[in-house]
Amino acid sequence: ALPRDLEGRRVVVSAGGTREPLDPVRYLGNRSSGKQGYALARVAAQRGATVTLVGANTSELPDPAGVEVVPVSTAEQLAAAVRDAAPAADAVVMAAAVADFRPATLAEHKIKKTDDMSAPTVPLTRNPDILAGLVASRPKDQIVVGFAAETGDERGSVLDHARTKLKRKGCDLLVVNAVGEGKAFGTDDNTGWLLSQQGLQWRIPLGSKSRLAATVWDAVGELMRQPGQR
Ligand code: PMT
Repeated sequence: ALPRDLEGRRVVVSAGGTREPLDPVRYLGNRSSGKQGYALARVAAQRGATVTLVGANTSELPDPAGVEVVPVSTAEQLAAAVRDAAPAADAVVMAAAVADFRPATLAEHKIKKTDDMSAPTVPLTRNPDILAGLVASRPKDQIVVGFAAETGDERGSVLDHARTKLKRKGCDLLVVNAVGEGKAFGTDDNTGWLLSQQGLQWRIPLGSKSRLAATVWDAVGELMRQPGQR
């Protein structure tokens, strides 16, 4: 049987990939399916937590049992939904792949080809860093977990990047996925490392996304049982 160690806890999980509209029919997006975030939400609910799942473009996935799902599409919508739910949460896990940039303007009509073979240039603007905002405004004792999708062939370069990101973002835990051809995005399995702000590091062997989710909640549960240790 699963532990009920999250009984009485409230958690927020983000999942999926944001879409940043360019014109009425096009968007900038990414390959996140939402499966990892959904597994996190499902496992947390099974372990007794009250779960709010903010899903970016995840309508293909069935709602996990007993979980409140808030559907969003853009990074700004995801930011607003997470900001609404986070103040009451004991833990927030950001598994969503959020676009760092969006088209600076939304064309009112579909962008058309011209006869002169030229191509348009699309100016981009920065999206808010939701994770950094969460860390800056969190209630005392709230645990914040980030995910990092890193490309890089060598273990060293992936982990170096991730440690820098963990320091910069200031979250308690960071799950590092090596991504690239056929890895992490859209798959049923996942692997990587779990890094803590205190410098601890665990290797997460290749396994189901539910298995990885259980590892994350184990670590979050540890931190919850030792408030003030962060
Ligand atoms: O959805 P699946 O197909 O199952 O795939 C899962 C996954 C690979 C998408 C997931 O495991 C994962 O790694 N998610 C984070 C991917 C990512 O966008 O990482 P990042 O390095 O760009 O962002 C780092 C962290 O900051 C993330 O927690 C992200 O949610 C957060 N972020 C990023 C940009 C931004 N503007 N605001 C943010 O809060």
